[in-house]
Formats: sequence, structure tokens, C-alpha cells
Amino acid sequence: MSKSKRIGILTSGGDCAGLNAALRAVVHRAIRGYGWRVFGIRDGSLGLMNRPLDYCEFDLSVASGEMLRMGGTILGTINKGDPFAYPMPDGTTKDRSAEFVEGYKELGLDALIVIGGDGSMRILNKLCKQGGVPMVGIPKTIDNDVAHTDYAIGYVTALGVATEAIDRLAPTAASHHRVMILELMGRDVGHIALSSGIGGGADVILIPEIPYSLEGIVAKLAEVNQEGRNHALVVVAEGCKTETGLPVTQVQADGEFRYGGIGQYLAARLGKMIEAETRVTVLGHVQRGGTPGMRDRLVASAFGVHAVDLIAQGKMDRMVAWQHGQVVDVPLSEIAGITRAVDPFGTIAHTARGLGIYIGEMKA
Ligand code: F6P
Repeated sequence: MSKSKRIGILTSGGDCAGLNAALRAVVHRAIRGYGWRVFGIRDGSLGLMNRPLDYCEFDLSVASGEMLRMGGTILGTINKGDPFAYPMPDGTTKDRSAEFVEGYKELGLDALIVIGGDGSMRILNKLCKQGGVPMVGIPKTIDNDVAHTDYAIGYVTALGVATEAIDRLAPTAASHHRVMILELMGRDVGHIALSSGIGGGADVILIPEIPYSLEGIVAKLAEVNQEGRNHALVVVAEGCKTETGLPVTQVQADGEFRYGGIGQYLAARLGKMIEAETRVTVLGHVQRGGTPGMRDRLVASAFGVHAVDLIAQGKMDRMVAWQHGQVVDVPLSEIAGITRAVDPFGTIAHTARGLGIYIGEMKA
């Protein structure tokens, strides 16, 4: 029996489906398996920087099956406000990293589990290293771009939502003989667009990893037409650039930039080159919400159990990862700064080309 510990857990970065399943698994394993106490930190790193500290203690009531079915995160999360350069109301930034470490110590924690994407993982790991805080990471993001893991929590549910959107666009495209353009999330990578595009039967899929040309898209649409179909589906990842390599972004009310608008850009350009009408759908945050799918519930549960086991084994500064049907763990130092992009010549891209989908032009 290991010495009783107090562990903290927080969710950081954009929310997604399956976060609560991971929290539930951590609580189960820590309390039932090891007799430890589990503290949920609210709103990512903010919960430890705020005074009074913002947290709750979990008991087994949180481990009910309801948590598996709930989207979002019951702890709340943030995807801005780097503690090393925290934005202050007067427009300046302040290093609040010491407040985070003091908060961790005030709560008397022995280790911290961080559920986050690559950005949160990098910042939190830097914070924890600086303050001597033992940390274990659990990867999550609908973008599925965390290095060394086949799955991040949230990805497969988002894929399902995106595929359903294509399924729903297909009949209206057919009825009106239109080219429907669907813009999907994924920031700098095209995992969601490529896989859901294949699953939904898209004719054109554009992702940031593979350059494209408007002429290439038009040629594919002409081919579809020659084959006797007067409508088509185009899927584009939000991080795709214009033909001349410019990112298409929008400024949010708080001054932050987010991708958005590549669908409209394409519609405007293609509209001058093809006869068919085009319409654009931007799926946006719908991809992050909803009831978690089965794969995310399973992966999140496995990650939660293994993360607690790592702490019990004293294996810190590591991230749990899914590789070839197994949960393994990898050093957090190997995650930082690496983006798991779509392999332009990997199985999924090869499948798309084999199906005759236009996915851009890139020589091997
Ligand atoms: O990283 C996850 C993600 O959903 C991206 O796909 C998207 O570009 C971004 O977050 C949106 O962020 P926000 O929630 O700040 O709009």
C-alpha cells in the first residue's frame, strides 16, 4: 500500500468530448485503487493562481456513469492566459508562474495531472519544472495533433460530428446541384478534415499539410460532372492557406486571432471558375460539443487509470499515450514543440488518393 497522496487534476486548453470521462477515471483509480485524495482545480492554471484557490475535492459521487455521457469539462478550462505572460486589464502582461506554484504548495499536493493539448502541455510542463511540481499529462484535443499518441481525447467524437455534417450536406447538395464547402476545425493540421472527408464521401479535401491549386479543384469538379454527377462536396480544414500562402483568420472580440474564412475564400474564387452554385458551412465549435463517442470514453478512461498508476510508480514528467492499441507513457520533453501532422504519404492520405479524392498536389 503506497503512502496516501493528495493529487490535483486540471483541464486546460479548448474543451472537447471525453474530458469528464478522464476525470472520472482518475477519481476511481486514485480513491478506490490507492486510497488517495483528489482535488479538481478549476479553470486550468487559473484555479491555482487565484486567491482564494479555486478547487473542489472529488469523492466517488463524481465517479458515476453520468460523467461518461457529459460533454465539456465540469472543471472549466481556459485556452489563453499563459501564466508566464498573463494579460492584465491595463494591456500589459505579468509573470504569474510563482502564484501557480505557491497555490500548488498551499493545497499540499503531491502531484498534478494535466489534461491538455500540446500548447497547454508545454506551458504547464514548464511551470511544473520551474516549481518542482511532479506532473503527468493526459492528451486531449479534437485536432489530434499531440505527438506520440494515435489518439487524443475528443478527436474521434469530433470526427463523428464532422462526418454527420457531411452526411447532412450531401442530400441538399444533390437537390440543388450545388458544390457544398464545409470548413472544419483542426488549427494547423488536417486530421479531422481528411478522415471525415473520406468517411463522408467528399470529392475534394484540403488540409494544411498538402498544397493545392484552384485549377486542381476545378479539374476534379469537372471530372465529377463528366461522370454524371451535378453536385459535389468540398471539405477544407480551417488552417489551410490561400493559394498564395496567406493564413485566413478572424479577430475575435477580445483581440485574439483564430482561423476562419477559408471556406468563403474558396467559394469566392471557385464561383468565378465553375458554373455550379457554391454554399459554405462552417462547423466550428459544434465539433467540440455533444455526447462523447465510445472511442473517446474508452481512451479517456484508460488514460485516467494509467495516469494515476504512473504517479503511484513515481514515473513523473510523462504523458500517457495510445500506441498500437496500448496505453504507454512518453517523456513530456518529447511532446513539447512537436505537432503531429497528417503524413502526406501515409495510409489515410493514400486512401483518399486511391478513392479519387483531390487532396492537393505534393510530390513524394
Ligand atoms: O485546438 C482546438 C480548437 O478547437 C481548434 O480546432 C480551433 O482552431 C481552436 O481550438 C478554437 O479555439 P477557441 O475555442 O478559442 O475558439
